[in-house]
Amino acid sequence: MKCRVYVTRRIPEPGLETLRQEFHDVLVNPTNHSLSREELLEKVAGIDGLLCMLNDRIDVDLLKATPDLRGIANYAVGYNNIDVAEATRRGIPVSNTPGVLTDATADLAWALLMALTRRIVEGDAFVRRGDFKGWAPMLLIGGDIAGRTLGIVGAGRIGTAMALRSKGFNMDVLYCSQEMNEILEMELGARKVDKATLIRESDFISLHVPLTDETEHFIGASEFKMMKHTAFLINTSRGPVVDEAALVEALRNDEIAGAGLDVFEEEPKVHPGLNELKNIVMAPHIGSATIETRSKMAVMAAENLIAMLKGEKPENCVNPDVLE
Ligand code: DGY
Repeated sequence: MKCRVYVTRRIPEPGLETLRQEFHDVLVNPTNHSLSREELLEKVAGIDGLLCMLNDRIDVDLLKATPDLRGIANYAVGYNNIDVAEATRRGIPVSNTPGVLTDATADLAWALLMALTRRIVEGDAFVRRGDFKGWAPMLLIGGDIAGRTLGIVGAGRIGTAMALRSKGFNMDVLYCSQEMNEILEMELGARKVDKATLIRESDFISLHVPLTDETEHFIGASEFKMMKHTAFLINTSRGPVVDEAALVEALRNDEIAGAGLDVFEEEPKVHPGLNELKNIVMAPHIGSATIETRSKMAVMAAENLIAMLKGEKPENCVNPDVLE
């Protein structure tokens, strides 16, 4: 196809190969960093298709600068970086990459939960510093996971996978979701509860909601005050779902026991104060970062873009009405 496609960051080769087999002109940002706003606007001039990352802001100005654009394939399941309403107004389909990153992201949420509860990061630093002088009864005491209550906020694909992984830990599972989740109720005896109940009763709260106007600062000062002092918060969804200033206060004042974050409110900036805290484990937004998952995301995004530029409905269209 004689189309010009721009890929804003280097993605795994299978995705690029898929694009190259179909399109005449596939341009890829060759650098190892995100393009500045100016660079991005310059690179997308004249393109027919865009394969973009979750940290590329695809807003009205960018859409105005790309009058020929006929498809936007986001390399992520979350698509809060794209002004979908504006794309829809302009008749441009938008796609995402659901499903393929469910397991990897749920695994990472558990990795944070376990690292935090069992103080693995502190322990690693302790050993490396040469402070380990022998087994001691009170050294780096953590908490139990088994038998505790896990609260899942957003029981979609990733929330469900996170909850199902609790089976071996024999946990009570609560969830907060618009819809009843039959799998969780049947497999785990999970209970659908309101937000306040989940916040008050959970020992671990794991966030799995998309970022929308309703979920921004879903967890803030009043929620931290309602949580158990012994509870942990895990966020692998989107940074702004948590009010980070309130989180710093809650952790400083031991209102909660700790937090595991893979995402940040103003990524890649880390809120002042978070770095100094011990009761936190942080990762640089690596929820889907396994080679298998990222390769599947790359092929999925490429196939979505190919369908869009052929005028067909892509498998994972987030604004399907546009193609009706
Ligand atoms: C997504 O796809 O939305 C994830 O945050 C990527 O890691």
